[in-house]
Amino acid sequence: MRVKPRYFGGLGAGQGRDAVPLSHMGYDVTAVDISQVGLEQIAEIDDSIKTINADVYTFDIGSYDVVLLDSMLHFYSRDLVKETNWVKQILENMKKRCCVCELPNEIQTSRESADGYSYGV
Ligand SMILES: C[S@@+](CC[C@H](N)C(=O)[O-])C[C@H]1O[C@@H](n2cnc3c(N)ncnc32)[C@H](O)[C@@H]1O
Repeated sequence: MRVKPRYFGGLGAGQGRDAVPLSHMGYDVTAVDISQVGLEQIAEIDDSIKTINADVYTFDIGSYDVVLLDSMLHFYSRDLVKETNWVKQILENMKKRCCVCELPNEIQTSRESADGYSYGV
């Protein structure tokens, strides 16, 4: 059975780079961010987007068809466990037949940088 996605949850939505165009495309979008400033900017542009000021690491993501994580996962060594557990938690709590869409900020090769963080893809 194919299911057309309707509800998008943008976790760490920022200033609405994804939320706004998705909403304009007719999707029902919720933007979640810890920064109220970004959420206010989203609401000014498109008041049909539901905005939630919350910490995504504790936010209950239960009801979306698509969970968007755009530029939210970096997997620096200091955050590796936290981010991996977060993704596991999202996958475990999602309803059936929905998906997680993760968009990397940039592609990095595996290396240890001068700042002491390891970057792996
Ligand atoms: C790199 S920006 C990406 C914004 C947006 N996804 C995009 O691609 O334009 C990261 C966003 O995540 C938010 N953020 C970081 N940690 C967060 C947390 N624990 N809970 C909710 N939002 C968080 C920041 O406020 C920021 O808006």
